Amino acid sequence: MNNLAIILAGGEGTRMHSEKPKVMAEILFRPMIDRVLDAAKGAGADEVCVITGYKAEILENHLAGRAVCVHQDRRLGTGHAVMQALPLLREKQFDNVLILNGDAPFIDSETIREALSYHLTRGFVQTVISARIDDPTGYGRIVRDYNGDFTAIIEEASADKETKKINEINSGAMWFRADALVELLSKVTNDNSKGEYYLTDTVGIAVREKRPVGAYTAKNADAVLGANNRLQLMELNEKLRRKVLERLMLSGVSIPCADGVIIDDHAEIGTDTVILPGTIIKEGSTVGRHCVIGPNTVLYKTKVGDNVTLNQVQAEEAEVADNANLGPFVHLRPNAKIGEYVHCGNFVEVKNSVIGAHTAVSHLTYVGDSDVGKGVNFGCGVVTVNFNGKTKNRCVIGDDAFIGCNTNLIAPVKIGDRAYTAAGSTIDRDIPDDALAIARSRQENKENWVIRKKPYREKKY
Ligand code: UD1
Ligand code: CA
Repeated sequence: MNNLAIILAGGEGTRMHSEKPKVMAEILFRPMIDRVLDAAKGAGADEVCVITGYKAEILENHLAGRAVCVHQDRRLGTGHAVMQALPLLREKQFDNVLILNGDAPFIDSETIREALSYHLTRGFVQTVISARIDDPTGYGRIVRDYNGDFTAIIEEASADKETKKINEINSGAMWFRADALVELLSKVTNDNSKGEYYLTDTVGIAVREKRPVGAYTAKNADAVLGANNRLQLMELNEKLRRKVLERLMLSGVSIPCADGVIIDDHAEIGTDTVILPGTIIKEGSTVGRHCVIGPNTVLYKTKVGDNVTLNQVQAEEAEVADNANLGPFVHLRPNAKIGEYVHCGNFVEVKNSVIGAHTAVSHLTYVGDSDVGKGVNFGCGVVTVNFNGKTKNRCVIGDDAFIGCNTNLIAPVKIGDRAYTAAGSTIDRDIPDDALAIARSRQENKENWVIRKKPYREKKY
C-alpha cells in the first residue's frame, strides 16, 4: 500500500499574534508541526506533504528534507489547502490519503492506524477521526442520522442551535481513498458564510452520492485538541507536562515537588532518580538510575549515567558518566565529556573537553578544548587559554597532574603525568612527566620599604 499524508499548515494563526506560522508554536519545546509529522510517519505514511502559506519560508527551512512543502498562495480554506496537493496526487499512485491539521499536536500514530484499519475493513471512501469532548465550541460537528450513520460535518459558523449541542466533533484528521479524494474535492464549493472551501463538505457530497463514509471515534479524546491562542497553548503544554511527569513517577522516578519541572516526552529517566524543582529536561536527554537532578538544572541533548548529582547545572550536548557530582553552578557546553567520579562545582565551565575519572575541578575554572586525564586536581581559578584570537587549540593534561591555583595553560600545551604547576603560573611550554613548572617571577622582599617611602596618606583612625 502506498499512502500519502497531507498536513495543513498554511494558516496564519491570527490569534497567536506571532511572527511565525502557528504550527511552529511549541508544546514542551517541540513545534506542533514536528509532533504532527512524527505521528504521520509513525503511522506509516510513505510520503508527507505539508501545505504552507503564512511565512512559508520559516516552515520550509524548518522541515528541510523531512517533508515535501507545497505552497498555498491564498488561504481559501482547508479544502483549498488540500487542492494544492492535487498535482502530487496525479503524479504518483497513492492508495489512501491521510489529512492532518498541523495545529492539533496530540494526534498519535495509534489513533491514525486504528482509523485506517476501520476505513479499509469497511470499504469507506472517507473516514473522519472524531472525538467526544466536553466543550465542542469552535469545532466542526459530526452529524449522524437516526440510525447513527454519519451524514455530514457542520462547521460552527454554519451550525444552528441544535447542531451546536452535538459534542462529537471533527478532529480534522481523516483518511480518504486517493481516487475518491480527487473526485470529492472537485465538487467542493465556497458557498458558505465565510466564502471558504471547506474540506469538511466532502462528507455531505459523498453521502449524497451514496458513497460509504465513516467516523472513527478516537479512544484518546485529547488527540483532537488544538491551540489557537497562547492560553490554549499553555493548557496543552500543562496537559502534556502532567502526563509525562505522571508516567515517570509511576515508573519509579521521584518528583517530590513538580514546580517548574518540565520534562520532554521522550526523555528516559531511571528508577530511584529524584528530580527537584526548576529542572528542565529537553529533547535528546537521558538520565540514569539513583541520580539527584536539580534544583534548577537544565539538560539539552545530554546523557547522564547512574548515581550522578547535578545541582544547578546547565548542560547542552554533553555526557556525564556514573557517580559524577556536579554543582552548584556548573555549565557544560557542547561535547563536554565528564568521567566517572568527577567533581566540578562553583562556577566551572567545560566545553569540548574530556575530563578523566576521579578528576576534581572545584572552583572558578574554565576547561575548553582539552583532554584531561584521570585523577587530576585543578586548583581554584585555572584557565585553559584555548583561543588566540584566530584559532582554537587543545591542552592535554596527563593523569594525576596537579594544576596550581590561577594557572593559565596557553594552548597548545601538554602537561605530563603527575606534573605540577606552581600557583599563578602562565604555562606555554610542555611540562614533562613528574616535573614542577614554575612560570612566574620569583618573589623579592624589600626590607623597610614602607617606612622609607611612606607611600600612604596619614590615617585618621
Ligand atoms: C477545522 C475543521 C473543523 C475541525 C477543526 C479541528 C474545516 C473547514 N474545519 O476547523 O471541522 O473541527 O479543524 O481542529 O476544515 N489551513 C490551511 N489553509 C487554509 C486554511 C487552513 O493550510 O486556507 C490549515 C491551518 O493552518 C490549520 C488547519 O488547516 O493547521 C485547520 O485550519 P483552521 O482554520 O485552524 O480550521 P478550524 O477552524 O480549526
Ligand atoms: Ca484550528
